Amino acid sequence: MKPIFYSGILALSMAGCGNPQGDNSTLRSALKDKFHIGTALSVAQLTGGDTLSERVARENFSAIVPENCMKSMFLQPREGEFFFDEADKFVGWGEANNMWITGHCLVWHSQAPLWLCTDKDGNNVSPETLAERLKSHITAVVTRYKGRIKGWDVVNEAILDDGSWRKSKLYEILGEELIPLAFRFAHEADPDAELYYNDYSMALEGKRNAVVQLVKTLKERGLRIDAVGMQGHIGMDYPAVEEFEKSLLAFAETGVKVMITELDLTVLPSPRPNTGAAVEASFDYQKELNPYADGLPDSVATAWTSRMADFFRLFLKHQDKITRVTLWGVCDDDSWRNDWPVPGRTDYALLFDRKGHAKPVVDVIVGASKP
Ligand code: XIL
Repeated sequence: MKPIFYSGILALSMAGCGNPQGDNSTLRSALKDKFHIGTALSVAQLTGGDTLSERVARENFSAIVPENCMKSMFLQPREGEFFFDEADKFVGWGEANNMWITGHCLVWHSQAPLWLCTDKDGNNVSPETLAERLKSHITAVVTRYKGRIKGWDVVNEAILDDGSWRKSKLYEILGEELIPLAFRFAHEADPDAELYYNDYSMALEGKRNAVVQLVKTLKERGLRIDAVGMQGHIGMDYPAVEEFEKSLLAFAETGVKVMITELDLTVLPSPRPNTGAAVEASFDYQKELNPYADGLPDSVATAWTSRMADFFRLFLKHQDKITRVTLWGVCDDDSWRNDWPVPGRTDYALLFDRKGHAKPVVDVIVGASKP
């Protein structure tokens, strides 16, 4: 394994004291007996368009999830026409690099093809037709990667912040049966695959209680669910670590594992008070919303390190309940947060900087993970 690149004084001091960055200094090695440390991979990283991030991912992470290429609008853009090229590359890359591979995501209201819920006149299809379409999508995708993809985000973001069901077209047509059906189809296609429910804003009480209830309902109905995924698109002042911890404990209490599935920590001002991760949110660019285009002041970088470290300390504290912590991207310039919810900003949300150097927080995490 090649060394990671530490920034600043740490790299000099480690090299100087004859302790070059070897296996024990990488994130992957440090966290090996705790939980998987993962990253989302983009198509550019899989197809030679971003070799820097590809190398950083290969050297530092033990798990991968596709950022976009397994979403239904890409896998089945037209009914019955599947496009697996990029997903195949993703899985092949994971196997070649000995990664724990998660599939994301089988059922989601967003990045789904228009045809899925409508007929040729644009009207909603019947519940039977939608169930049949979901079954055929899930079966085709899960079967193709049977035994290779270890776990699936089966349903993504079906519950709103207040705990009510998201009134998506999927829900309009199938109602509450949507989730049990999706879990059943996924399990039938690969009985050995782990199955997850994944969502954002999981520290909110309403969503916490609804997800706990969902897990209980699925279990009562004899359906397999292995873990709850807490996305973790967090900011400098939301959510409170204590609220995040309450949810983590509440989910673990139901008997499933917890995964932190899409971690990133934005330093940028939020254009609205609601702090979820709804991909459809979009605000016009304004200069005041992009304060660090020319670099991050030390004071902000230090505050960022401290907050990210607090979350990793929480994860380490509950390592018996957590099986994976996945960052939503490798290096800062890969992050969707540069363009969401305001396009064209410069954010610093991930563990590796724009040059592929590990940020100081990586050393803090490695240190905190030592017995
Ligand atoms: C995001 C990707 O990062 C973007 O590239 C894409 O344009 C929109 O989706 N919750 C999820 C992820 O579950 O799939 C989303 O990924 C981010 C929010």
